[in-house]
Amino acid sequence: MDKIYSIVLAAGKGTRMKTDLPKCAYPLLKKPMIEYIIEKLERTLIDENVVVVGHQKEVLMEILGDRVSYAEQKEQLGTGHAVLSAESRLAEKKGITFILPGDMPLMSIDLTNQIIKAHQEMGNDLTVVSMYFENPTSYGRIIRDDYGSIAAIVEEKDCSNDQKRIKEVNSGVYVVNNEDLFKVLKKIKKNERKNEYYLTDIVSLMRHDYKIGSFVVNESFMMMGVNDLYAVSIAERYLRDEINKNHMLNGVQMISPNTITIGHNVQIEPGVMIMPNTTITGNSVIKERAIIGPNTEIHNCFIDRFTEVKHSLLYDSSVGEYSTIGPFAHLRDHAEIGAHNRIGNFVEIKKSSTGTYTKAAHLSYIGDAIVGNNVNFGCGSITVNYDGVKKHLTRIGDDVFIGCNVNLIAPLSVESEVFIAAGSTVTEDIPKGSLSIARNKQINKADYYHNLVKPKQSEE
Ligand code: UD1
Ligand code: CA
Repeated sequence: MDKIYSIVLAAGKGTRMKTDLPKCAYPLLKKPMIEYIIEKLERTLIDENVVVVGHQKEVLMEILGDRVSYAEQKEQLGTGHAVLSAESRLAEKKGITFILPGDMPLMSIDLTNQIIKAHQEMGNDLTVVSMYFENPTSYGRIIRDDYGSIAAIVEEKDCSNDQKRIKEVNSGVYVVNNEDLFKVLKKIKKNERKNEYYLTDIVSLMRHDYKIGSFVVNESFMMMGVNDLYAVSIAERYLRDEINKNHMLNGVQMISPNTITIGHNVQIEPGVMIMPNTTITGNSVIKERAIIGPNTEIHNCFIDRFTEVKHSLLYDSSVGEYSTIGPFAHLRDHAEIGAHNRIGNFVEIKKSSTGTYTKAAHLSYIGDAIVGNNVNFGCGSITVNYDGVKKHLTRIGDDVFIGCNVNLIAPLSVESEVFIAAGSTVTEDIPKGSLSIARNKQINKADYYHNLVKPKQSEE
């Protein structure tokens, strides 16, 4: 059997994106565009994927590693020239080649297979894949002859006013017999206006001596080319909808799903509820019956069952079962919160762990601390972990009550069953079972107001 190859064109700069990254490496929902494409191609009938790289090739090669073969296009002289760069890899091989642009992340596995099969069944030498767009701006237009056969593809900038009105557009996807392809590519003439070799010219070049067929895609959105940041937002919307739908069908409730973004590798168990304006990304796991959001961002976190997280930011952290986080909490850099905790308003926790039934309900900073069970951080109490040069550790045992506005100056060890008086600045370790008071004794000066303030007022 002849083999099936793909050539993915990803050497271009992506000038219309107006960003530094090469276009095909640009992330959609934090995953590079090219990865969507290769991931899907790997699950089609295609035997080998060849990616044409050029502009910032190392960025794309870093993303794809050795899961594909590469062809290099040293100078970006257009899509025809890009395909020709794969000549040394493919020209000698018998088979068919599926060509697609590296900026088409929405095309499905099924559709790819259907296109390949249609090419084979129709016995075409070249199959051109097209679709209809109500607004065809920026796509090449499909020109058909009087018999309805494809005669040419004309780029928007080269279109006459009549041609501009054509709504059938070139998807940029073609299936073509290998040996014919490389013969024809060499005949493409440079487009003088753009100084580029257009791949689209193979249609007019093959028109008389080869069998050209067409495949019109109904789900036209799948064929959209992502050329600018507006298109990025549209593609992301489709990807987001698809992911959310799968979670909802799996028993995850979403309130206003169009405001909810879930990454590809996120696992959410049935019975979870997600409120509006919530983003969950990275390798996050959300266990059953958790309520997440509204207005919450979670990245690379493990959130256990029956937790509640609202109006909060959680990065690279974990939350134990039955705990509540927020409103307005910030967990980061390995904050490992135990079960049945309450982490409340304006509390930041960094690189620290807590046992069960621990609370920091208001206005605390806990950094570089190992905290036991049943510890209560009073409002405004903080670990003072940084001396201006180095970070230091605070250890707190079980059953510790920390009064309001306490400074725990690290390195520090507070043993179990300890009370710390409000307003203390603790610099020494506290032994088990103590009450620690570390603040100045209060002085009340009698008759101060009458002696000082009143005479002043009567001077007027
Ligand atoms: C291209 C088609 C257009 C079609 C549209 C569909 C041509 C001339 N035009 O236009 O008919 O409607 O796709 O989305 O083919 N690339 C290279 N090397 C180059 C130039 C481009 O590898 O020298 C790559 C780009 O990285 C990109 C792909 O080829 O992934 C397509 O290039 P792009 O500039 O996006 O083509 P369009 O203008 O969208
Ligand atoms: Ca494009």
